[in-house]
Amino acid sequence: MNGSRVVLALLVLFAATLLVLPLTFGLPGGTGPPEAVTESGDAINQVYWVVFGMAAVVFLIIEVTLIAFIFRFRRRPETPPNVEGPQIHGNTRAEIVWTVIPAVLLLILAIYTFSRVPEVEAKPGGGDMGNVVTIEVTGHQFYWQYRYPNDALSYDELVLPIDRKIRLVLNSEDVNHSWWVPELTGKRDAIPGQTNTLYFTPNTTGVFENGVCGEFCGIQHARMTMRVEVVSQEDFDAWLEENAPEAEDIALGESQWEAACAKCHGLDGGGDIGPAIAGNSILTNPEALDLLVRVRGQNLPGNPSYMPPVGKGWTDEQLATLIAYVKSNEQLAGPGGADGG
Ligand code: CUA
Repeated sequence: MNGSRVVLALLVLFAATLLVLPLTFGLPGGTGPPEAVTESGDAINQVYWVVFGMAAVVFLIIEVTLIAFIFRFRRRPETPPNVEGPQIHGNTRAEIVWTVIPAVLLLILAIYTFSRVPEVEAKPGGGDMGNVVTIEVTGHQFYWQYRYPNDALSYDELVLPIDRKIRLVLNSEDVNHSWWVPELTGKRDAIPGQTNTLYFTPNTTGVFENGVCGEFCGIQHARMTMRVEVVSQEDFDAWLEENAPEAEDIALGESQWEAACAKCHGLDGGGDIGPAIAGNSILTNPEALDLLVRVRGQNLPGNPSYMPPVGKGWTDEQLATLIAYVKSNEQLAGPGGADGG
């Protein structure tokens, strides 16, 4: 096999690798975007693949040409060393061509991308507003709070009806977070003092657990995951009714504990990156708990352990719900803390 055949074989191998590589991106665990269950998510994925496809073609043409040129214009054995090749100064036509082609490609990409923005944004038309389900989303260090139209609450887990336009109204009580469930749509920041909205319409029931906070927000940012369950309209109505606000709802208090407290103090309050708090009398003392979780957190000079005010913005009912759960749990409440103890 002579030299040119080796190079040809390498080129073919290289091109084949480049062509096959993108196919692995769509596989589970690949680097491509997951399959979407909303039109908004579909539009985002289509833009992704169009941009990827154009970039791949350009990459292939450039790299194959580069390698061909390296081979074609290499120094031949018969050329004496230290001889310089021909010196070329400018080629107006080539320069115009390699400026115009990328400019046209970028223009096409820009026009295509902007043309898909309305689908991605998925804003409802004026007449559809009545059918929109609005849910208030509040980012906290380090969990998500959801408030539904009937004032029902959930923490970290969001329940949505299928085939209804969803409007998430995003806010934060402390630092910037970003709400992101890739199967549903793009990410949107939750910023203190600013209200952002996000629209989408889920078209498939199921559980979507790839959600993560998309903005670094502190030590437990990685634990700020989210789970979205899309259910039928009847199941959604039933869920809302079941979770209608109710004084001292122990099950809700448990999810509140898991979301707001357990990520740092452990599920059993035995301590994790935060200190052990099981049995601490503050947990069942409304005034002390109010001051700690709603007002100031733990941020004392000389005290190395910082705790954000995790319940900033909570209503009195939310504080009562958490206390009700702690009291229902003997280990957390400690001696004398539990009901009737
Ligand atoms: Cu919240 Cu990262």
